Amino acid sequence: MKKIIVFGLFLAAAISLIACGQGASGTDEGGVEEMKIKFSHVVSENTPKHQGALAMKEYIEEESDGKIEMEIYPNSSLFGDQDEYQNLASNNVQFIAPDLTKFVGNNPQFNIPALPFLFPDDESAIKFWDGEKGEEVLSSLTDDGVLGLSMWPNGGKHITNAEREITSPDDFEGLKFRTQGGQVLESLYSTMGAGSESIPFGELYTALDQGVVEGQENTFSNIESKKFDEVQSYMTVMNHTRVDYAIFTNTEFWDGMNDETKKIVEGGVEKGTEVARAEAQSLNEEAYETIKERGQVEIKELSEEEIQEFQETLEPVYEEYEEDIGTDVIEAAREASE
Ligand code: LMR
Repeated sequence: MKKIIVFGLFLAAAISLIACGQGASGTDEGGVEEMKIKFSHVVSENTPKHQGALAMKEYIEEESDGKIEMEIYPNSSLFGDQDEYQNLASNNVQFIAPDLTKFVGNNPQFNIPALPFLFPDDESAIKFWDGEKGEEVLSSLTDDGVLGLSMWPNGGKHITNAEREITSPDDFEGLKFRTQGGQVLESLYSTMGAGSESIPFGELYTALDQGVVEGQENTFSNIESKKFDEVQSYMTVMNHTRVDYAIFTNTEFWDGMNDETKKIVEGGVEKGTEVARAEAQSLNEEAYETIKERGQVEIKELSEEEIQEFQETLEPVYEEYEEDIGTDVIEAAREASE
């Protein structure tokens, strides 16, 4: 009899431990759940995304009195571009914040940051993704068990390459560029007579170093922190497309937390969003200064007339993709930029 009671108690304790670890109750019973959550991303530490993740971790661990532990894995150290979505859908990681253009295979509307010269600055991109259309796009992956919570900006992208100075669309002729992926970026390069290839961020330095591609486009922050300027010779400041992220979670994890736990985690996402948004611009400005100081690339800042030539050349990309992306979505993005 004693053995049966001891076994019963052991079983009850084991069941409650499992329930607690998975945050499965979805009610406000039982206080803050003890759990470990993981945030995986592909960029370096000195970037808006990592700073946002750190602020989120600090908030969550403090507010939960350490009951919730958050582990951050930068530099593709847990998952890279190739496998982070799948692992989020399987709840092997609870948060990722990928460049939105990496989801164009799931929904072509994620091509928005790749549309040329659409958003002039972080504010307009934030305004679009916080608006009705932006939120609809961020919520479009729930069939996979993935939910977009909030947009985190990085900034405008600029072109680097190993071959020649780029000041006009004709200078792209015959070069091959790495892209984050997606039909719009591919078309943008082919419109200017260049080739393109989608390569995971974690493999980009080597691809540039070995000449798999001659160039790439990225934010100052990503170029500086990954030292792409070491293996490139020219940089054109273009601000023609953007790297914007959203923080994505697994819906089973998100809906499974009890109310008290969820409030803290939601507060953490808000805090991370606040910090990522506040720091993106200054981190990019600092990175630009560092690239200049390092002096590895010859830098060209385009004049207004030169920018206009690119705008005119790339205008057909809009016509090509407006049906896939939706004229209403593009219109909402344009309104956010006014
Ligand atoms: C890239 O792949 O170039 C970037 O989108 C990486 C990132 O997450 O900023």
